[in-house]
Amino acid sequence: MKLKYFSHSSFLITLDSGSRLLIDPFLDGNPTSPVKASDVEAEYILLTHGHGDHLGDTLEIAKRCDSLCICENELASYLAGKGLQAHNMHIGGSYSFDFGKIKLTQAWHTSVTPDNECVGAATGIIIFVENKIIYHMGDTGLFLDLKLIGQLNPIDYLLVPIGDNFTMGIDDAVMACSFVNPKSAVPMHYNTFDVVNADPEVFKQKLEDKGLNCQVMEFGQEINL
Ligand code: NI
Ligand code: MN
Repeated sequence: MKLKYFSHSSFLITLDSGSRLLIDPFLDGNPTSPVKASDVEAEYILLTHGHGDHLGDTLEIAKRCDSLCICENELASYLAGKGLQAHNMHIGGSYSFDFGKIKLTQAWHTSVTPDNECVGAATGIIIFVENKIIYHMGDTGLFLDLKLIGQLNPIDYLLVPIGDNFTMGIDDAVMACSFVNPKSAVPMHYNTFDVVNADPEVFKQKLEDKGLNCQVMEFGQEINL
């Protein structure tokens, strides 16, 4: 299995089975993305919420690739209304797809589409694939229930926002990692715009000071999991 980071909160998971899971594909409008939406293909698109920097290029990619969009109920209904294939879920629920299992978690955030439709709650996404557990936190503030989420799900990779202003900043993100206790943390949602500037190496050092592992991914880098 491979994990590729496009910057911001956008990742592509390519499974050994060949299935591709694209998460929060904010590419064409993203000044830090090394790829354009037209460069990307995916059988599945996982979305944390409806904000433009997460919904991104979903409509274009899903139409071209006939992707199944997997996300929270109201956002899924919104996408279905645009003619896309969508699987409606909600916080606390899990479902087994042919590639693996998805479970949605809460996220302290809102969810509105770029055309100003309120689409339910923002979420995090726990992805159970090929004997690994990846937890994409979406956009969120810090919350104590992360301890419970980490206790119930032994997380291998925690994708954690550090850019502050709209999400946790570095210090709250370090505490989130100590609550979840993943095998490794990958920072995201930083340096896309001035308002979310943060130094991932400072985050990494603070995690290592607490005995936690961190992998800072370059924008465009792909790693083997
Ligand atoms: Ni957001
Ligand atoms: Mn965001």
